[in-house]
Amino acid sequence: MSDEKKKQPKANLSWDGKTVEVEMLEGTEGERAFNFSRLKAETGCYAFDPAMMNTCVCRSAITYVDGEQGILRHRGYAIEDLVEHCSFIEVAYLLIHGALPTTTQRQRFSRLLNIHSMLHEDMRSFFGNYPEGAHPMAVLSAMVVSLSSFYPELRLDSDKEEIDITVTRLLSKLRTIAAFSYKKSIGEPFVYPSHRHSYCENFLNMMFCSPVSLYKADDYDVAVMNKLLILHADHEQNASTTAVRMVGSTGANLYACISAGICALWGPLHGGANQAVVEMLEKIQRDGLTPDQVVAKAKDKNDPFRLMGFGHRIYKSYDPRAKIAKQLCQAMLKKKRLNDPLLDIAQGLEERALNDVYFQERNLYPNVDFYTGLIYRAMGFPKETFTVLFALGRLPGWIAHWQEMHNDPEQKIMRPRQIYTGPGKTEYVPIEARD
Ligand code: SDX
Repeated sequence: MSDEKKKQPKANLSWDGKTVEVEMLEGTEGERAFNFSRLKAETGCYAFDPAMMNTCVCRSAITYVDGEQGILRHRGYAIEDLVEHCSFIEVAYLLIHGALPTTTQRQRFSRLLNIHSMLHEDMRSFFGNYPEGAHPMAVLSAMVVSLSSFYPELRLDSDKEEIDITVTRLLSKLRTIAAFSYKKSIGEPFVYPSHRHSYCENFLNMMFCSPVSLYKADDYDVAVMNKLLILHADHEQNASTTAVRMVGSTGANLYACISAGICALWGPLHGGANQAVVEMLEKIQRDGLTPDQVVAKAKDKNDPFRLMGFGHRIYKSYDPRAKIAKQLCQAMLKKKRLNDPLLDIAQGLEERALNDVYFQERNLYPNVDFYTGLIYRAMGFPKETFTVLFALGRLPGWIAHWQEMHNDPEQKIMRPRQIYTGPGKTEYVPIEARD
């Protein structure tokens, strides 16, 4: 037995006079877990953990989150450094390929993104059949899964070149689909991508150019767009990433997995919160509520109101992404000489909540969604597109986890168990006897 195996810490699990030894696992940063992968085989019992709040479903080398310290790192790099020094495409490359790209690798990646930026012309007609008020997340998930009808699916034994092409095709086309779905929603003609622009510049131009506007994405907005997409790029085993892994574990194609991730992200408790935050702030403004009144509603168990953009399953401290987003928001409004009353309301709520025992006792702080919607709003995005922008940022993270799962020998089709609480064996009674 290797020295490493000998040193592995153990735990004893005892019940009904029996005891089994359970191996303990330890991660890079010292986080520890009981290895329950043989629990049923060795004890005849399951572990009960609703919502998997205490369960590690895999080993992963992509992202590290320390909720107590407010730390977020991708492949070891601190989120603050990545936002400061990298473009979104470089971070996407880092997440998917495991290292920041060299100049040559970045050039090849950008070239592939440009080659694959167009949608099949037959897919354009899909947009025309959606009703006026179709939510862009519904369009996005449907269009992504439809890509599998136009482009070859990755097989589990696909070679690296095929994976690279499919991954960059998806990264590039999701951006085009996002822009086209917005243009459809406002009844304007689609704006095609151009090889002359960078990833974010292309996206902004596709969103805001029109036959009558001389819009050109300015360097400041392009830089902010890069930073916002980096802030959303990955977050270890969150709900939408778990959905991607779960669907991927059945062998479903990558497009189907990403479509599942988009649908999971849409929920207001997850990525949909960025839209819900702005809708909440707009309602607070309309109703003229004070921070005291809002915080009282958030604390009132008889009131369904929640302070959207606050709280997090992992962060029991200030979400490092929210810190960056708040600074970006303040800087953007100042640069654009915008005075958004919703920012004043948000900052007032933050200050009041952070000084309230209810929030302090539950370690409720602003999360990534609290300020990002206000930045999108200042950039001219309608709130219905905010979660689409979250999906655009999260895509490389989803892809990285999909790849990691398929390369992980410990991974099989996900199939959790349950504690059955229904009726015992029941004899059939014919309907005549039931009447
Ligand atoms: C994202 O997982 C990820 O990493 C997600 C994400 C990512 O990058 O992928 O970070 C992105 O989804 C961020 C979260 C966005 N969602 C919101 O902002 C919605 C508002 N937040 C909450 O609904 C809630 O905080 C969650 C869903 C984020 C976390 O919920 P938990 O961990 O299940 O916590 P909980 O609901 O059990 O709350 C614990 C206590 C409860 O009070 P008590 O029963 O103990 O009295 O805190 C209270 C809750 O009522 N609480 C809130 C609150 N959030 C929690 N009370 C008022 N307002 C809130 N926002």
